[in-house]
Amino acid sequence: MDKKLKVGVLFGGRSAEHEISLLSAKSIVSALDKDKYDPVLIAIDREGFWHLAEQDLFETEKDTYHIDVKNIDEILALIPGKTREQFRLLAQPEKTVHCDVVFPVLHGTYGEDGTMQGLLKIMNLPYVGPDVTGSASGMDKEVMKRLLKENDIPVADFLAYRAHEASSISYDEVKNKLGLPLFIKPANLGSSIGISKVRNEVEFDKGIREAFRYDSKLIIEEFIVGREIECAVLGNEQPQASLPGRVIPNADFYSYEAKYLDEKGAAFEIPAKLDENLVKTIQDTAVKTFKALCCEGMGRVDLFIREENTVIVNEINTIPGFTKISMYPKLWEISGLPYGKLVSRLIELAMERHERDSRLSVSLP
Ligand SMILES: Nc1ncnc2c1ncn2[C@@H]1O[C@H](COP(=O)(O)OP(=O)(O)O)[C@@H](O)[C@H]1O
Ligand SMILES: [Mg+2]
Repeated sequence: MDKKLKVGVLFGGRSAEHEISLLSAKSIVSALDKDKYDPVLIAIDREGFWHLAEQDLFETEKDTYHIDVKNIDEILALIPGKTREQFRLLAQPEKTVHCDVVFPVLHGTYGEDGTMQGLLKIMNLPYVGPDVTGSASGMDKEVMKRLLKENDIPVADFLAYRAHEASSISYDEVKNKLGLPLFIKPANLGSSIGISKVRNEVEFDKGIREAFRYDSKLIIEEFIVGREIECAVLGNEQPQASLPGRVIPNADFYSYEAKYLDEKGAAFEIPAKLDENLVKTIQDTAVKTFKALCCEGMGRVDLFIREENTVIVNEINTIPGFTKISMYPKLWEISGLPYGKLVSRLIELAMERHERDSRLSVSLP
């Protein structure tokens, strides 16, 4: 039998979605097919330091949400090698650790945005999810929307501003262009952090300040009235779409509280009750979005369906929530791919892409 692959599971991280990452990683580690894979648990603390955790971290710590990874003694240093086999992680003082493939279970900045992908690429390691370009284009809401528009994929009208332009943002101008209410969002984040729905000038000013707390660029969007639909995409060259699911927020919008803190924050309709033609349109749009944003591996495409059944793409999440009850794995489960098999498939896709790209010439003949 082939040697088991060592799967580095990266979790925690510097983003505001640190805790969500712990929950996702716990589910992935417990579902990993232990006949094929050996997990290596790598916890990243809020300051960005890497720690080598014991394999049973998630079994021994009862309250996953509040694990303080900073308390894990072993700090890791990265040692890039010429080949994947030579790459090592050095745990102080003298232990070295090896991974054959990495599953970055890191949501948001420094994990989902291409920076970690760049590091893993430099280390010549296969990794799950989109590569540098796909991750970065999916993360920056302005770049994402521009690429989608370019590919004739409908998105909400929007304006983007940088922090140094803050004093020139005019409520009246924005209101005239985009109407009311408006959504104000940090350009690079997730989990609804820093997002406001605003209806008047006071809320507008507050929303601008709030979004700039998290990013030096923000986007302002027109309000879309419609059902919120999510569709999971999986694959490299020939990505496939799952059946769509519906999120019914029990709040003004699908806020951080509704997502993670309030048990009754949202209801889910999995699969979404939609007619066949609409399902097909959603799946085609999701795959088109995935490709337009240069994604491979995985991505969850979130859309709005307006009253007249037209589709608007809201965003892609290239490392979507991955707990057992999260939408991405749930959608695959009802489409015929159970959680454990999905994790294995993602690792295979990572290996396939790495092998494909390793064959590319890097110098002139
Ligand atoms: N233009 C919009 N119109 C209506 N609702 C929106 C709009 N943009 C965002 N929302 C609501 O806010 C939530 C979070 O916004 P989203 O762009 O998905 O940010 P995040 O990346 O943080 O998830 C969405 O799930 C939706 O409920
Ligand atoms: Mg979202």
